[in-house]
Amino acid sequence: MALAIMCSGGDAPGMNPAIKKFVDYAFKMDRETYLVYDGLEGLIDNQIKKANYKDVAGIVHIGGTIIRSSRSKRFFEYKYRKIAYKNLKSHGIKGMVVLGGDGSFRAMEKFSSEFDINFVGIPTTIDNDIYGTEYCLGVDTALNVIRDALDKIRDTASSFNRAFLVEVMGRDCGYLAVSSAITSGAEICVIPEKKFPKKILKKRLNKEIKNGRKYILAIISEGTKRTKEMHDWIENSFGLDTRVSILGHIQRGGNPSVHDRMMAFDFTIEAVNYLLKHDDSNKVVVFNRGEFSFMEIEEVVSNKYQLPQHLLDVIKYLD
Ligand code: F6P
Repeated sequence: MALAIMCSGGDAPGMNPAIKKFVDYAFKMDRETYLVYDGLEGLIDNQIKKANYKDVAGIVHIGGTIIRSSRSKRFFEYKYRKIAYKNLKSHGIKGMVVLGGDGSFRAMEKFSSEFDINFVGIPTTIDNDIYGTEYCLGVDTALNVIRDALDKIRDTASSFNRAFLVEVMGRDCGYLAVSSAITSGAEICVIPEKKFPKKILKKRLNKEIKNGRKYILAIISEGTKRTKEMHDWIENSFGLDTRVSILGHIQRGGNPSVHDRMMAFDFTIEAVNYLLKHDDSNKVVVFNRGEFSFMEIEEVVSNKYQLPQHLLDVIKYLD
């Protein structure tokens, strides 16, 4: 059985270390190994190439993905999924490792219900919003990019007596915002999962300003879609010149952190071992309380990720 690896949806740091480990480990297990370029689009267009060591040499430290990724509208249509299946068959590929998020897993669930392709997903997204796993590949690197930006923004905020409202990614999930607010000592954190206590914060921060506070650092999750409103509220409530900084796609780039490299290696070995041992896999590797296990893809995609209680508890201290 030949094996293939593919990235799908938003790229994330950690994809390259996973690709490297996949090729090395599959070779070690005497498997023919393929790289699917350009994600689901490449699956349809037969951008499927046999891998050799040279393809994956010197990539462990690089962000993004050397085999690229995509979001595909065509894959929603059966006729294109059939073409994708024929392409995989023509290379003798029966098992696939897919690095991606919810949308990618949904696509693979459909695909593997129609065709005999075994598939194991590795949750990979900076948003950390996939049901069933505490950790998604790429999150640690993204958090460190945000931390670096916030440390710098704090320097200028404190030197200039200003408020800064920093918008971070995460789609509809506040994980990046909460984790960053807590670890960067922000005064305000606005996320989709929690009502923002305007009255309480206005009272508390104004008291602090009276007692010498000179600046405010506020983090807002893009999923709230309230950046403009919160900017105006901060400026009016605290009388501080307020700037907005939208971090955007820099959060998705950068060299994978040590943690993401280690997690990429471990996730990948788990995924390959599973494919080698099972003939009908349709699973996602999940990581909880320090251990890997496997969850039916159906369960992963039909449930919504919830922010862990300990983060919701900690964020209360900001109120
Ligand atoms: O899912 C990863 C992510 O970076 C989200 O945080 C963000 O909302 C989205 O992708 C951005 O997507 P695009 O790259 O298509 O603009």
